[in-house]
Amino acid sequence: MTDLTPAQQLVARSNRLGADPKNTNYAGGNTSAKGTETDPVTGQPVELLWVKGSGGDLGTLTEKGLAVLRLDRMRALVDVYPGLDREDEMVAAFDYCLHGKGGAAPSIDTAMHGLVDAPHVDHLHPDSGIAIATAADGPSLTQQAFGDKVVWVPWRRPGFQLGLDIAEIKEKNPQAIGCILGGHGITAWGDTSEEAEANSLWIIDTAAAYIAEHSKAEPFGPALEGYGALAADERRAKAAALAGTIRGIASADRPMVGHFTDADVVLDFLASAEHPRLAALGTSCPDHFLRTKVKPLVLDLPSDASVEDAKARLKELHTAYREDYQGYYDRNATPDSPAIRGADPLIVLVPGVGMFSFGKDKQTARVAGEFYVNAINVMRGAEGLSTYAPIDESEKFRIEYWALEEAKLQRMPKPKPLASRIALITGAAGGIGKATAKKLAAEGACVVIADLNLEKAQAAAAEIGGADVALGVAADVSDEVAVQAALDEAVLAFGGVDLVVNNAGLSLSKSLLDTTGEDFDLQHRVMAKGSFLVSKAAARVMIDQEMGGDIIYISSKNSVFAGPNNIAYSATKANQAHQVRLLAAELGAHGIKVNGVNPDGVVQGSGIFASGWGANRAAVYGVEEKDLGKFYAQRTILKKEVLPEHIANAVYVLCGPDMTHTTGLHVPVDAGVAAAFLR
Ligand SMILES: NC(=O)c1ccc[n+]([C@@H]2O[C@H](COP(=O)([O-])OP(=O)(O)OC[C@H]3O[C@@H](n4cnc5c(N)ncnc54)[C@H](O)[C@@H]3O)[C@@H](O)[C@H]2O)c1
Ligand SMILES: [Zn+2]
Repeated sequence: MTDLTPAQQLVARSNRLGADPKNTNYAGGNTSAKGTETDPVTGQPVELLWVKGSGGDLGTLTEKGLAVLRLDRMRALVDVYPGLDREDEMVAAFDYCLHGKGGAAPSIDTAMHGLVDAPHVDHLHPDSGIAIATAADGPSLTQQAFGDKVVWVPWRRPGFQLGLDIAEIKEKNPQAIGCILGGHGITAWGDTSEEAEANSLWIIDTAAAYIAEHSKAEPFGPALEGYGALAADERRAKAAALAGTIRGIASADRPMVGHFTDADVVLDFLASAEHPRLAALGTSCPDHFLRTKVKPLVLDLPSDASVEDAKARLKELHTAYREDYQGYYDRNATPDSPAIRGADPLIVLVPGVGMFSFGKDKQTARVAGEFYVNAINVMRGAEGLSTYAPIDESEKFRIEYWALEEAKLQRMPKPKPLASRIALITGAAGGIGKATAKKLAAEGACVVIADLNLEKAQAAAAEIGGADVALGVAADVSDEVAVQAALDEAVLAFGGVDLVVNNAGLSLSKSLLDTTGEDFDLQHRVMAKGSFLVSKAAARVMIDQEMGGDIIYISSKNSVFAGPNNIAYSATKANQAHQVRLLAAELGAHGIKVNGVNPDGVVQGSGIFASGWGANRAAVYGVEEKDLGKFYAQRTILKKEVLPEHIANAVYVLCGPDMTHTTGLHVPVDAGVAAAFLR
């Protein structure tokens, strides 16, 4: 251990602590080390502070994530500290303490780490510690659980003054190894990195053991009749049926991506008598408010309430939630507060079913859900020992609408054009569909790739991104049950659906006399009926969401062009093309646009061409199969070969931010074929 630098020891310790969710919530807490290095300017020793910078998670912290400050300058800030009402100014002053390029941006908690007189300091947000920190009699519980080894620090918003408070407590209590920060978390220290880590873990584990030993049997009260968990398949079906409405509720102000969990911890909470009271009290730890809002929206109907009743009640509760949130903002905002950031809930709890959580992207939505699970654990611990007593509403507001947090939000990069939108593309394991999924994901959408073969759909999804970006599902679009199951998977993965691309297809090239009844049916089942089924299932979700949406058909030049040996394929393409116009007329009332793309001659990457159609076409035109793309190019007005990416670009334009007033259109992407001009 000793041959590691202080920064290396700090990173290793942070990664160990951050790897176990019992120790701290996602991206919560920060750690530091102090040590001496040679100042390259003077050649003299210089005392430095390495501290986890703003943002990022302890579990994945690297040296790049550390801010490096000169300790003498950081501590000199005490002499210019203007007092509590101007403590936020000290964050900017940290920049004048940086050593060299300084590494990551110093966080608000830098003061605590620098001012506490110990070489190694950990500040963490463990559920067990926060349970004691939010118990009504937290100070006496701290005494009982830890003796004089751990000291209670009354709630104070993170900042310079909290750093001074903790430094003083450490000085006055030389026997102490750390403290419980009221309403917030824990801080521990040590002379060595190992000692700080051991002290942190001792506080966390002692708190957990104390709760286990002293908690009342039913911290959330007795079971609430009728609110128990539904069977696993029932709750997933009900969750999928409610998802569109719930996403719409979370997205009234701005579109959100969703995450769903039916974890036992959530279902147990909702099945207990005290859950309405506790949920209304809201969360406590400072990093929760931006992620989960002050409190969740809780459906107040039993588990077996019908989907229709649940939807209607959720809408009433949404109106009430918005009024309540506006009231909270109005009661607490001062003239210099940032503008209200939207009044929709980020957490929606449905008894018997589970929890929906929301964020600007999938990762943020998932972490919001994790945070609410942390909140449930905290409430269980606090109620088990005493009464859960989170910080006051006005303090919650000061955190949620803190000028420093607002500045962080303003610094975030501009979202991509399709950010927060969820796309489902059929037949997207390869060819035009995969290129489309790639393009939509590159522009910020979450994508669901539906295709016949699960492994191939998943492989295409994995090529595009991780589970927060792309999901592969198996579905035969001609099978109504399979289509509904694919839509259900999509809405449970991302909360809903906004963009649907009817791309699945196959192609038989046969003369009228050679085309069998089954050939004809197959072409129509997959393309005409398949896209009808997908549009229907998706439109149901989109209508529930009340967020508009796009349905795009990949039809074909052949939907308007008449040539030989194409009766089944071209007829079903014409059917798809007319579905575009029919649905554009019908779904416009819901803000849903329906458009089509007419490709032609996309040979490269196309499974249709690879599986016989290409050879057949090449034979019809008397060229070699490998030259078919070039042959098609020569037939076009632009003399260009059409690639899957060109179709994908057209899909993006149709559903992107610029084509907001166009529906019922077909866009030819064929490098110019006069015989297929639309008129
Ligand atoms: N390639 C072209 O030149 C061209 C021209 C005009 C129109 N199109 C249309 O573009 C779409 C995509 O074609 P491509 O060239 O990329 O072909 P492709 O064969 O590479 O892709 C079609 C995909 O659809 C899937 N699929 C087939 N039947 C399905 C079903 N029942 N359920 C779910 N998925 C199914 C296939 O597994 C395949 O992954 C098709 O609708 C096609 O008719 C293609
Ligand atoms: Zn904290």
